[in-house]
Amino acid sequence: MIARRIFIDWRTSQWIHIRRLSSSRIPEMPACDHQPSVYHGESYDVVKKVISSHVAPCQVPFYKKPLMMYEGYGQWLWDHEGKRYLDMFAGVATVSIGHCHPKVVSAASHQMRCLGHTTPIYMQPRLHEYVTKLVEKLPKDLSVVYLVNSGSEATELAFLMARLHTGAYDIISLKNSYHGGSQAAAASTAMSTWRYPVPPPAGYIHVTNPDVYRGPWGGSRCRDSPLAPGQRKCECDDGNCAASDKYLEKLEDIFRFSLPNNGRVAAFIAESIQGIGGTVQYPRTYLRKAYDLIHHHGGICIADEVQTGFGRTGGNFWGFEGHGVQPDIVTMGKGIGNGFPMGAVVTKPEIASSLKKALHFNTFGGNPVACAIGSAVLNVIAEEKLQENALQVGTYLIERLGALQLDHPSIIGDVRGKGLMIGVELICNPETRKPLPVPQMLNLFEDIKDMGVLVGKGGLYANVLRIKPPMCITKADADFTVEVINRAIKKSKLQNWQNKEYVFCNGI
Ligand SMILES: Cc1ncc(COP(=O)(O)O)c(C=O)c1O
Repeated sequence: MIARRIFIDWRTSQWIHIRRLSSSRIPEMPACDHQPSVYHGESYDVVKKVISSHVAPCQVPFYKKPLMMYEGYGQWLWDHEGKRYLDMFAGVATVSIGHCHPKVVSAASHQMRCLGHTTPIYMQPRLHEYVTKLVEKLPKDLSVVYLVNSGSEATELAFLMARLHTGAYDIISLKNSYHGGSQAAAASTAMSTWRYPVPPPAGYIHVTNPDVYRGPWGGSRCRDSPLAPGQRKCECDDGNCAASDKYLEKLEDIFRFSLPNNGRVAAFIAESIQGIGGTVQYPRTYLRKAYDLIHHHGGICIADEVQTGFGRTGGNFWGFEGHGVQPDIVTMGKGIGNGFPMGAVVTKPEIASSLKKALHFNTFGGNPVACAIGSAVLNVIAEEKLQENALQVGTYLIERLGALQLDHPSIIGDVRGKGLMIGVELICNPETRKPLPVPQMLNLFEDIKDMGVLVGKGGLYANVLRIKPPMCITKADADFTVEVINRAIKKSKLQNWQNKEYVFCNGI
């Protein structure tokens, strides 16, 4: 049974109604009308053995007993035994419109039958159709598209363009960011978990992350989310964010201390909301001021929209729009192809033309099948109003998670995000915000999966539950997710965590 209660939200001081969970009810998974087929393939044990012998050992799957997924539909996944899961992580924020969407399947199979590959040595109409649609979604002067195969490739290309265009070399990125695994992308990525003990390439500077929850500055009105960080009061006047200015000083310090006098910079790159870093949001005005500073020093501003693009943040199609900024280059990946390997760099004609200084070629980028899929994804987002759904269901889910935080303030330190880009930061001490220890975190993570919900984890301490589902989820799916997390937390609180061993850890 669900009881209703009314409470004062201590973050916004507004009366809001929240449905409270009855502790006795076992969460019931919402119905699904798709009938999955029966798996007749290779056994779980054989697949596991082959993967552990022949797949690079850094690619560790989630969970003590990794899941072997067999079929997907909408927001649902089935494992080889036919068990159904609610996919609230979407293959790391990638399955934007739902697994095996019929319109994507049909566009891909039709294009495969018609023409599967060309490379840019010939023109082909699918590319024309797709780039026309894509640039319509962007500010007018971002009109030139270079299609690639992944987010990392998009990052690499964006840096190359910025360096060629400005004649400068240094790239500034935020600490706690993730921009990819290839050389330049990894050098701009600033989390120890993702850095190898080899000398990094020159020309990358990491600046203090403007993290209003965990960073040194930030208050209750700093961020653009239905829920504010509750721990610190905000003393600032409207429109004048002191935390934002403090973090900006750190960026100014880069020009004062790390670059040559009157130094120029090639580019500044930032995610609109940090993804792998644990759904971290910046003070509202930070990016605007940072962009002004970078432009003042002749640099180019790159918005990494690999996770936040294509409507995921709900209120806007692109995350950067929520910050009131206009980037010079936008990088895209993940949700662009609903799981098909695609990426894109979109920029201004004068920046794009810098690549003409040499030949630049990409065998698969702009492949006709990829373009057909990309077009279908854009169509479905519009036809099914998925951005609007991300806003409505996402806001509802964030508010429900906020209510859950009030029930478990000793373990839920922060609930944040926008639309369906959500983070739940787990802690063991609300005063110090000390992260929940890994064994407890991972056990919770297992329990959530056992009850049928797949979420991700992230943040430097892997203590943030990351919720980034396909944008077709419903309020019933949101309710189910909250009930499952609630139950897992309650169970976790009853256990004794002293000296518990849990060796498995995967930082994604
Ligand atoms: C924000 C961001 N940028 C870039 C990338 C790299 O994308 P890919 O893994 O497709 O190379 C990722 C991947 O997780 C990402 O989250």
